[in-house]
Amino acid sequence: MYWDRKCKNITRDLVQPSNKKKNTLWFPGVDALDVKTAFKNNLIDNTGHHILIEKDELNAKKLLANIKSIPIDFTLHLDSLSTLGLEKDLDYAHFDFCGGLTAETATWLFDDLRLSHGAEVHFTFAYALRGSKFLHGCDNLFSGHSSFRELERINYCDANRGNMRIAFYCSMIRCMLNKYEYESLQPIWYKDSVQSMVLYRCQNVRKINPLVHLDFRYYHMDTTWKKGGPPVNAAKKAWKTRKANALKEKRSNAAKKAWETRRASV
Ligand SMILES: C[S@@+](CC[C@H](N)C(=O)[O-])C[C@H]1O[C@@H](n2cnc3c(N)ncnc32)[C@H](O)[C@@H]1O
Repeated sequence: MYWDRKCKNITRDLVQPSNKKKNTLWFPGVDALDVKTAFKNNLIDNTGHHILIEKDELNAKKLLANIKSIPIDFTLHLDSLSTLGLEKDLDYAHFDFCGGLTAETATWLFDDLRLSHGAEVHFTFAYALRGSKFLHGCDNLFSGHSSFRELERINYCDANRGNMRIAFYCSMIRCMLNKYEYESLQPIWYKDSVQSMVLYRCQNVRKINPLVHLDFRYYHMDTTWKKGGPPVNAAKKAWKTRKANALKEKRSNAAKKAWETRRASV
């Protein structure tokens, strides 16, 4: 089985629910080894709401066949996470992405993730930033602007002075879970195939006032911020207007130039 691998099996056990959960969300892949283990250990309450996510149609088909034997009424979301609308607060979720984090996914986590008091939420993603504009943008943001830089400095210490990349992912999670406080356990780096992965566990989640100063969606902004963190909404709006006007001017200059070229060649 594809996900039945030594290190994956260890990390899968590490993120099993700590007790019976009512509203859960899983990325079970084809074999649903995580869901099956939790069911076997009586950790899924069959009176609750349980969501399985799989964006690949073929995988989803095999997954449905694989979980037939589990007497729980699962809801399958056959699409990307970023299109999911949550109806209930989750008390358990494992965002087991096999690849890197995308801007859409990160924004969904920032805006749409709903967690109940005391929830457990875990993340697994690829260690490498590769060619991701989004992740590189966030990385620059985190090292370039005061409120994010402080967050990364703290996470660097918490990551056992281990690794700037791990500190980056811990900071990324802190920003995405902007409406929540939580207890985190040591992030885990592991490698069970070609890719290196990072696993991060957040427990005992509590709601807090949103940490708006950690809005990572400014990652594409190439402006130098004043002391006190990212610009507030008005500044963001003004920046968008300036950008739109600059684009309009650029387009009209290009059109003028094209017209002059055409005229010159007549
Ligand atoms: C790492 S595998 C799951 C392994 C499984 N949790 C286990 O313990 O064995 C991740 C699965 O989630 C799907 N997936 C990854 N990112 C996704 C996304 N953003 N939206 C929907 N499905 C996604 C992939 O197609 C893949 O089948």
